[in-house]
Amino acid sequence: MERKSEVKTFFEQTDIYFNFDYNIKIRTETVAEFLGETQYNNVLDMPCGNGLISLKNSQRFNQLTLVDFSENMIKLAKNIAEKEKVKNVSFTCGDIFETNFENEAFDVIISLGILAHIDDVDKFLTYIQSKVKKGGRIIIQNTNSDHFYSGLIRLYLGVRKLLGKDKYKLNKVPARVVENSFKKAGFTCENVFRYNQSFVGFSKLFSNEKKYSLTRKWFGNATKNKNASLGSDYIYLFKKD
Ligand SMILES: C[S@@+](CC[C@H](N)C(=O)[O-])C[C@H]1O[C@@H](n2cnc3c(N)ncnc32)[C@H](O)[C@@H]1O
Repeated sequence: MERKSEVKTFFEQTDIYFNFDYNIKIRTETVAEFLGETQYNNVLDMPCGNGLISLKNSQRFNQLTLVDFSENMIKLAKNIAEKEKVKNVSFTCGDIFETNFENEAFDVIISLGILAHIDDVDKFLTYIQSKVKKGGRIIIQNTNSDHFYSGLIRLYLGVRKLLGKDKYKLNKVPARVVENSFKKAGFTCENVFRYNQSFVGFSKLFSNEKKYSLTRKWFGNATKNKNASLGSDYIYLFKKD
């Protein structure tokens, strides 16, 4: 199966999301901390998954655009938007590179949980960098493949693969690839929150509430990031100069 179909098939199983909802809560709160009290005009969340991260922050946006190629994810996002009574939102179910936007430049782009899955990381980075206005922001997440904790996760996933439990393969993206790409494209890094989003094999031992409180206890938040050097997961706030 080609990479794109494999990724789509994987993410049509949206229950994966509910297993990791403490992480979505951390991402939602980090985005809120990065955005502060400012009101933003046009905001793009791509890929949005179930949309929760940007929909929960949508009071800060005049217009929100959600894009994802998973029909099931977009269905969930529409349900959440209805439940949260979000009016200023549009949905596109389609591929990132094939979406036609009404606005060619956004004030904020939120791109979390994509670099491990997209087939061409450099093409994706260049693409979103071109879609944000001068002075605008990109919030992007990456799991640093050079970090020792990522090595541990890969080892754990490798064992699961050998046991026939998992077939899905994540891209390896070092932090320096992301950071150099943004630097070269004329962006400044305004903030980064580092933590770990995996409990390597111990995940089932803890409830989502416990995983949330342990993560906060150990890593703090974006305003006061504790033990940052131990975090393999980076959420960056970049500004286009
Ligand atoms: C790990 S989830 C992240 C979702 C959300 N941003 C979050 O942080 O919760 C990755 C999402 O990327 C979507 N995706 C992957 N490749 C895509 C592509 N080429 N075009 C559109 N969506 C894509 C998947 O359907 C999935 O919903």
